[in-house]
Amino acid sequence: MQPGDIESVLRENRSFAPAASFLAGARLQPADIEKLRQRAAADHTGFWAEQARTQLQWHKPFTVILDESTAPNYRWFPDGQLNVSLNCLDVHLASRGDAPAILFEGEPGDRRRLTYRELHAAVCRLANALRSLGINAGDRVVIYLPMVPEAVIAMQACARIGAVHSVVFGGFSAGSLRDRIEDAGARLVITADGGHRGGHVIELKAAVDKALEGACATIENVLVLQRAKNAVSMRAGRDLWWHEVVDRQSALCDPAWVDAEHPLFLLYTSGSTGKPKGIQHSSAGYLLGAKLTSQWVFDLQPSDVFWCTADVGWVTGHSYVAYGPLAAGATLVMYEGAPTIPDAGRFWRICETHGVTVFYTAPTAIRALMKLGDEIPARYDLSKLRLLGTVGEPINPEAWIWYHRVIGGERCPIVDTWWQTETGAIMISPLPSAVATKPGSCTLPLPGIDAAIVDDAGNAVSSPEAGGYLVIRKPWPSMLRTIWGDNERYLATYWEKFQNRYYVAGDSAHRDADGYFWIMGRIDDVLKVSGHRLGTMEIESALVAHPRVAEAAVVGKPHDIKGESVFAYVVCRGARPTGDTRAFVDELRNWVSEQLGAIAKPDDIRFADNLPKTRSGKIMRRLLRAIARGEPITQDISTLENPAIVDQLRGVDAGAHS
Ligand code: PRX
Repeated sequence: MQPGDIESVLRENRSFAPAASFLAGARLQPADIEKLRQRAAADHTGFWAEQARTQLQWHKPFTVILDESTAPNYRWFPDGQLNVSLNCLDVHLASRGDAPAILFEGEPGDRRRLTYRELHAAVCRLANALRSLGINAGDRVVIYLPMVPEAVIAMQACARIGAVHSVVFGGFSAGSLRDRIEDAGARLVITADGGHRGGHVIELKAAVDKALEGACATIENVLVLQRAKNAVSMRAGRDLWWHEVVDRQSALCDPAWVDAEHPLFLLYTSGSTGKPKGIQHSSAGYLLGAKLTSQWVFDLQPSDVFWCTADVGWVTGHSYVAYGPLAAGATLVMYEGAPTIPDAGRFWRICETHGVTVFYTAPTAIRALMKLGDEIPARYDLSKLRLLGTVGEPINPEAWIWYHRVIGGERCPIVDTWWQTETGAIMISPLPSAVATKPGSCTLPLPGIDAAIVDDAGNAVSSPEAGGYLVIRKPWPSMLRTIWGDNERYLATYWEKFQNRYYVAGDSAHRDADGYFWIMGRIDDVLKVSGHRLGTMEIESALVAHPRVAEAAVVGKPHDIKGESVFAYVVCRGARPTGDTRAFVDELRNWVSEQLGAIAKPDDIRFADNLPKTRSGKIMRRLLRAIARGEPITQDISTLENPAIVDQLRGVDAGAHS
């Protein structure tokens, strides 16, 4: 298929049936899936109870399936007890102890292979070390590591002793790290001297030092993995080397039995306000979701080599690196670095070298690699691939078709998986042996997931193609339990809109005549830059913290590769900068990067004397969005306090600069 056919693909609404070659080896056949769907539809909680009983190993079996007495703070399997790490590791030792669990490749090219037995031992050693440092069940541990096996080891070790981890993406700045440590009240940070990314060493320990300067009083120790061997300063009494503390520990560690509802982790994510929220997940329900979807959606089998390219700093790296694939007993690939180091073939070379069979990445990566041309992937043997996945943002049909044709050799189904940090696991996605795919659609909800599209009054939209709010109408085991330390915000953000009846995802979507879901985008002030969630308010607060900035408004602008980019309108204290403002623009961009991390850096900054506001003082974001996108202005600007501002915002008046 040529790129020119894509328009017609869209018009025809073409669909791709599962290839016979895939179907032949799939663990779930269409009839099995039909049975799952029927069972789930007939008895929602009974279905989940059966799954929980058969998929998880319990120390103490549950007798209560779902406690709704504190709804919408739902509690699943509340009187059961188990251990998550045991369910990911110990359960495989007898049958698959010598099978590879992790195949690791560092950006510089170093490789490591850990069997299930070796991974189990490493997790036990660290778990014992954590206990020796006084970390108990329920204590929070912040993990700030590169994408190396120790990141998974650290998460699993916390799970083993019932400590609650909060992984902070290594690309976040010291300031963001500090906020997350403080909000969680963490006792320990696990970090590394540095990690390799994009040909550079990312100095993680230095960022931790900066974050802790005069702050984070709850932190007692910092455990430092030696990875990049860059120079670091170690503060006596606080900082400890991983190899000195961990290596001498016993390779056996009794798992702590925790209640099903015991928090497994917090993961901070952006919302509509300035402060990131600590999404709190449970132990049993979360693990059940991660494991089942690894099997259902990725069809993971012991023979599979699964590569999910997400960093452990995001939820995808939790559910489909650290937990789901291990619970399913698969082999996973971890890669530390950037896709184009040392050249643009790196991803495909990793697929060839490690014999990757199932590959899961984000549309932003697919678009970036597509731009580099078909010749690069053509140099590698991708014939082992049997299934492809995407996540994080809508995938445009052009990228979907390229992925299908060039990477999947037209034989691999593509699972476009819709879910969120909050949902814990994939919610809407093709089941690859049974659901025909359409480029750009995440297709149908999984068994046991009651997704719907409703109008402002909460009624299901009846006509196909009509847009509305994407909601989940029944609780599901891997759902978030609350926002750490702020249950009011949990209720207000996800439940208030429809009086606690439905979980509100914050996305708009529509369904087509076949009932397929098409995600249209966020309805709140959340941007998706390279698939990562950024709150406009967070970036605005970072800009306003600069001494010369009085006011700022941030909107998203479509971007070829990143999906969306950050576009900021800035009002300065004193006179508006005019003439050559490049140096100041760079200063502000770097400022945001320092405050929040490089992913939040605005691509465009435009200065104005003031921001367009209604007479009641509300910033006219729709207008700012239209201007950033170069779209015609359709909204009524007669209510603007200062209509002349529009030319400044457009950048057509002499002083503005972008
Ligand atoms: O807007 C949706 C988009 O990503 C949001 C969730 O972001 P986050 O919590 O960072 O989790 C991303 C990885 C699970 C959603 O509200 N999104 C996620 N997957 C898709 C998507 N949009 C369209 N299609 C998808 N497959």
